[in-house]
Amino acid sequence: MAEIRIDRIITASGFASRREVAALIRQGHVTADGVTVRSGSEKYDPQCVDIRVAGELIDYREHRYIMMNKPAGYVSAVTDKRDAPVTDLLDSRLRKIGLFPAGRLDKETEGFILLTDDGDFAHRLISPKSCVEKVYYAEVEGILDETDINAFAEGVILRDGTRCLPARLEILSPDTALVAVMEGKYHQVRRMLASRGNTVKYLKRVSIGGVVLDSTLGPGEYRDLTDTELALVFSGEHADI
Ligand code: URA
Repeated sequence: MAEIRIDRIITASGFASRREVAALIRQGHVTADGVTVRSGSEKYDPQCVDIRVAGELIDYREHRYIMMNKPAGYVSAVTDKRDAPVTDLLDSRLRKIGLFPAGRLDKETEGFILLTDDGDFAHRLISPKSCVEKVYYAEVEGILDETDINAFAEGVILRDGTRCLPARLEILSPDTALVAVMEGKYHQVRRMLASRGNTVKYLKRVSIGGVVLDSTLGPGEYRDLTDTELALVFSGEHADI
């Protein structure tokens, strides 16, 4: 990794604002490999140098990719006039580094939402051209059968006449299923199932690309994607659910 200004390294980690970092450096609280840093303009390779503020190691990453288990009741936004945005669930440091949700889940939908500060990544994730499969677990009012599987495979026509791309429907029980889609139209999975006469009672996204939502994350909890998971998002692999 290239060398980066130390004040940028610390602010990008969400540790402190630029002004606070300047004060911390003046007060001698910032070290690089144990040596006190004297100026915010000094440059270091954050992957090779141990940078600390008041003894606390700075975890610098060029971009962050956070897997969150979104609870119902939160909107997929950074700010909202009426409802709580998912970013409210982040700790104060992560709230400072400009993370936003890459793609949307409805307010009532639970499950895997990816938050990042990498605009290109988010754009690719959302684009149907990238063919990243998103899998949802759905509970419906009604009975699912073979004809629904075939309709999804052909491409469901929504009630407003919109045709969806072919999708996979895997029936788990008469009223529960996994739905795998590669696009993200407004309320898509609910509308696809509604077009087949099935109202969705509960919806949870369980995977994105080859990455499955970590089952140890409770509602509202999150963690960084591992490097392996990050590579799996666009690998073209489907999650094994
Ligand atoms: N489809 C829906 O209907 N809702 C979501 O939140 C995501 C996909």
